[in-house]
Amino acid sequence: MKVLVVGGGGREHALVWKIARSPRVKKIFSAPGNAGIAALAECVNIKAEDVKGLAGFAEKEGIDLTVVGPEVPLVTGIVDEFENRGLRIFGPAKAAAKIEGSKVFAKELMKKYGIPTADYRVFDDLGEAVRYIHDSETPLVVKAEGLAAGKGVVVARERQEALAAVKSIMKDGIFGDSGRRVVIEEFLEGREVTVLAFCDGVTAVPMECSRDYKRAYDKDRGPNTGGMGAVSPAYYYTPDISEYVNKNIIRKTLEAMRLEGIPFKGVLYTGLMLTSKGPKVLEFNCRFGDPETQVVVPRLKTDLVDIIEAVIEGRLSECSINWTGEKAVCVVLASAGYPGDYEKGKEIAGIEDAEREGAMVFHAGTALKHGKIITAGGRVLGVTALGRTEEEARETAYQAVSRIRFDGMHYRKDIGL
Ligand code: AMP
Ligand code: GLY
Repeated sequence: MKVLVVGGGGREHALVWKIARSPRVKKIFSAPGNAGIAALAECVNIKAEDVKGLAGFAEKEGIDLTVVGPEVPLVTGIVDEFENRGLRIFGPAKAAAKIEGSKVFAKELMKKYGIPTADYRVFDDLGEAVRYIHDSETPLVVKAEGLAAGKGVVVARERQEALAAVKSIMKDGIFGDSGRRVVIEEFLEGREVTVLAFCDGVTAVPMECSRDYKRAYDKDRGPNTGGMGAVSPAYYYTPDISEYVNKNIIRKTLEAMRLEGIPFKGVLYTGLMLTSKGPKVLEFNCRFGDPETQVVVPRLKTDLVDIIEAVIEGRLSECSINWTGEKAVCVVLASAGYPGDYEKGKEIAGIEDAEREGAMVFHAGTALKHGKIITAGGRVLGVTALGRTEEEARETAYQAVSRIRFDGMHYRKDIGL
């Protein structure tokens, strides 16, 4: 079978790595891919957002299955486009991808079906939002309504920060249409955990849990990033909590979507805060997480292509999905300046030495130039290691990291600590 993986980050490299292990797969394409993916797949120069271009390529090449990494093509309807052309694709239809594409939709769904989440208010008028902030206690959480590349959330400790956030989103329009409305939410305290679940519209099968490290620097200091590392599992996500979440959040959400007439197929990403009043939803995404996928997928024993087909054909309930008992730690190596401005084009050395230490090196922002691997993004590599214990996984990961060098490389030293 021929498979196309859409996207070109660490998440997609991990997916390609896993799909390449399926005996049923003869050839993998990736659009646009990256320098690491290029070792396992043929990279084609089509942007992940170019839905029509991708569908045309899949038709021409006779692709049997397409797997989508990023949210933008899902929210703009890549699944509908492919299905209309009779092409098989893994992911939610546009109407269901709204669970990530519209924060207001997700919050209203949770409210209607009693799914635990932070209290919230929706504003489309700046003056009303400002008045509400003046009348509320801080901290407050301000969220742009639509997609904002992971940058649409401001956790405001002070009233001034909340005011600045609504102004820059609603008045200055820093996220364009995504900011015409804002959600202002109650601040939740606790530990965070991510649970990805395979969903076929009716059945949800949660994967092993994970946790990402969003802040740029050690001890959760500095600005938010796309993720500086991840671990799987999160030791504090106990079987009791997991049982509660599966029943009262994940399965309930899938059922809610079905009752709304928009069954969700694909991977449902649930970001949770484990508060003193129980687990509450921070956000839903309509796809695999990044970097979470880089620690979850290496622990999956079952053939991912078999699971994906079961999802597409609506027979996930018959599928048995197995995990290794090993722990996984992923350390992200970033360019100097990230998440702010950074330079590209720095030569990367030591990747093979890192792999000899027993780690998997997933590429994110990398490219090939004259046969050399160079940096091409803010997050450059994700170094993942497995171990019998988290400690062992951590040691292997950091040992491997010590082999890699590029100008300006920075990373967190406390992943899995
Ligand atoms: P989101 O993209 O909605 O997950 O938000 C990004 C990050 O902001 C989350 O991972 C949390 O760390 C934080 N966050 C979001 N909503 C809240 C909330 N209601 N209370 C506290 N922190 C939040
Ligand atoms: N790790 C956060 C995300 O994938 O959205």
